[in-house]
Amino acid sequence: MSDLVIQPSRGLHGELTLPGDKSISHRSVMFAAIADGATDISGFLAGEDTMNTAKAMQAMGVVVDGLGTDRLLVRGRGLHGLSEPAGVLDLGNSGTGMRLIAGLLAGQNFFSILSGDQYLRKRPMARVVEPLRQMGAQIDGRSGGQLAPLSIRGGGGRIRAIEYASPIASAQVKSALLLAGLYADGETSVVEPSKSRDHTERLLRFFGVEVREEGNRVTVRGGQRLRAGGPLMIPSDLSSAAFFLVAASIVPGSDLLIRNVGVNPTRTGVIDVLLSMGADISLGNRREQAGEPVADIRVRYKKLRAVQVSGGVIPRAIDEIPVLSVAAACAEGTTIIRDAAELRVKESDRIASMAAELRKLGVAVTELPDGMEITGRPALTGAACESHGDHRIAMSMAVAGLAARGETVVRDTGWIDTSFPGFERLLKLAAY
Ligand code: S3P
Repeated sequence: MSDLVIQPSRGLHGELTLPGDKSISHRSVMFAAIADGATDISGFLAGEDTMNTAKAMQAMGVVVDGLGTDRLLVRGRGLHGLSEPAGVLDLGNSGTGMRLIAGLLAGQNFFSILSGDQYLRKRPMARVVEPLRQMGAQIDGRSGGQLAPLSIRGGGGRIRAIEYASPIASAQVKSALLLAGLYADGETSVVEPSKSRDHTERLLRFFGVEVREEGNRVTVRGGQRLRAGGPLMIPSDLSSAAFFLVAASIVPGSDLLIRNVGVNPTRTGVIDVLLSMGADISLGNRREQAGEPVADIRVRYKKLRAVQVSGGVIPRAIDEIPVLSVAAACAEGTTIIRDAAELRVKESDRIASMAAELRKLGVAVTELPDGMEITGRPALTGAACESHGDHRIAMSMAVAGLAARGETVVRDTGWIDTSFPGFERLLKLAAY
């Protein structure tokens, strides 16, 4: 088990380019796998989660060259070209990998089993299993199909198109159903209470698929083929950049430029929240890449103030709430985070994990069923922290350590490699 030792920083400086977007990387290799033709993907996140997704495609007969690097060549086998995997598909720690692939498998003509590590096997799967069963896939699993391992016998050509009103705003649920919907007879629609990240919609369009959107309703017609076209360039992950945005905002003297970051409006909640806290963040060199907005982001230290974070911004910032709670710990006043109960079923219970770890640094935190109240302090106190087997908790506590007095040790940080290989090197490069 590896530990990360963090000394206080006197400011983060320089220019950084961070690894590729995790959400888009998962989708890129899945969609390329079922496209007609080969796709040249650059900026692919060579993290454990996304590599497991690529390996799952290989196990279904797809040739993927370059695995382990950020440049993949995926030789698509067409909409009906995947073949039955000989063994269990192991998605490791990744909820996105498991739930999206479940949708893809629902449309196949064969049998498959999905599993993952001890954390993934505890995460709720009924949210995709139930609607996919309604579409005609035969799915079983532990606890009646609520927990992985899941077995899936796809409905093949007999999958039914549905209109599904999702009780939660979840891009994983939406994407699983749209993928299954590609194999359905008719139009499949998903309606969400508020709009979740729309990378699936954008990337399906990149592959030539027609996707209709009306408010929070997304519709896809079955039987459309994906066409491999030009090179697919994946921008850097805003969720990874978020650790640096918060670090530079809370460590006096910081001035940092992060290049080529995805700034899809369904993901930029973290920037909006930091700006409302008074942060000094500006976006320049805006452009578009593979249907996704991209920019360079400059961030400079500025004293932050407490805010209320709730409602529609939550799905747009869901993965960044742990590191935003570190910003709150350094802000003046009491920050209140609500409507974020989904945090309890992520890689760890992120409300309980962050409350426990921030308290070790001397911060007053009250846990709420769907959020936290965090009272900022002029200075955090370095301490020994745990990762809770969760990459984003580990990285959030490392960021907190930069702004603390004395040394901070984050234990069991190997999990960081699921989403952000090279995090420690880049953080230390910028911070010291
Ligand atoms: C993701 C969707 C979100 C997010 C996860 C990635 C995706 O999960 O938290 O890290 O790529 O679709 P939910 O769909 O469960 O909200």
